[in-house]
Amino acid sequence: MKILVIGATGGVGSRLLPMLTEAGHEVHGLWHSDGDDKRLQRQGVTPHFGDLTEMGPRDFADLVTGMDAAVFLAGAGGAGKDLATAIDGDAAIALARAMEAQGVRRLVVVSVFPEAGRNRDLSETFEHYMAEKKRADVAITATDLDWVLIRPGTLQNEDGDGQVTAGRCITYGDVARGNVARAIHAVLDRPWLTREMIELTDGPVAVGRAMDALGR
Ligand SMILES: NC(=O)c1ccc[n+]([C@@H]2O[C@H](COP(=O)([O-])OP(=O)(O)OC[C@H]3O[C@@H](n4cnc5c(N)ncnc54)[C@H](OP(=O)(O)O)[C@@H]3O)[C@@H](O)[C@H]2O)c1
Repeated sequence: MKILVIGATGGVGSRLLPMLTEAGHEVHGLWHSDGDDKRLQRQGVTPHFGDLTEMGPRDFADLVTGMDAAVFLAGAGGAGKDLATAIDGDAAIALARAMEAQGVRRLVVVSVFPEAGRNRDLSETFEHYMAEKKRADVAITATDLDWVLIRPGTLQNEDGDGQVTAGRCITYGDVARGNVARAIHAVLDRPWLTREMIELTDGPVAVGRAMDALGR
């Protein structure tokens, strides 16, 4: 497949790219920080420049045209309310709208576990980030795209061992960024897995088996 990854240079994205290229996919990645175009090229990924805070509908249309699937992994990462609105909210929604317009149906989005951070005092910025993720989830699930939303628990900067718990409603926990990447790869490999919201933490089940179980 020809797959566009938005957020390709992040903690999950940089682990996902080699999984996709090694599986034989043609991978395209968005970059906006100096030098990341070269880094993507070295990974066998076709780089496309774009700052999500400045892109309009035409830019998203150009990006998705000719793709078979898109993965949205970008995030403002606590850098402020305006950025969360622009990236976690507006950009995710703009991507889905462009895909609808261009007839690109397969979309995998990394959202957030609803209980994230509920065990501590939350800042206004974090609450806003959660609300923007939810705003995007609402808009994306209302499209007729073949969407899958992955809602990971708190991300750990680890490759993980490929063992997870995945389900429509599971207990909150941590998850290795590498396991999130594996879950995205597994979803892309299973076109029948569609219009699903998957909560994800580290756990005892191999990623592939966990995804197959969702289809039953
Ligand atoms: N942290 C958690 O515990 C947690 C939990 C659940 C879900 N999530 C979500 O999981 C997803 C993946 O997380 P992650 O750890 O891989 O995120 P990350 O490492 O912070 O990566 C974010 C990606 O978004 C890109 N990006 C940011 N601003 C951009 C802009 N203006 N234009 C273009 N690209 C931009 C970054 O590029 P640069 O690096 O060049 O800026 C990077 O590729 C995010 O959506 C995050 O919100 C996080």
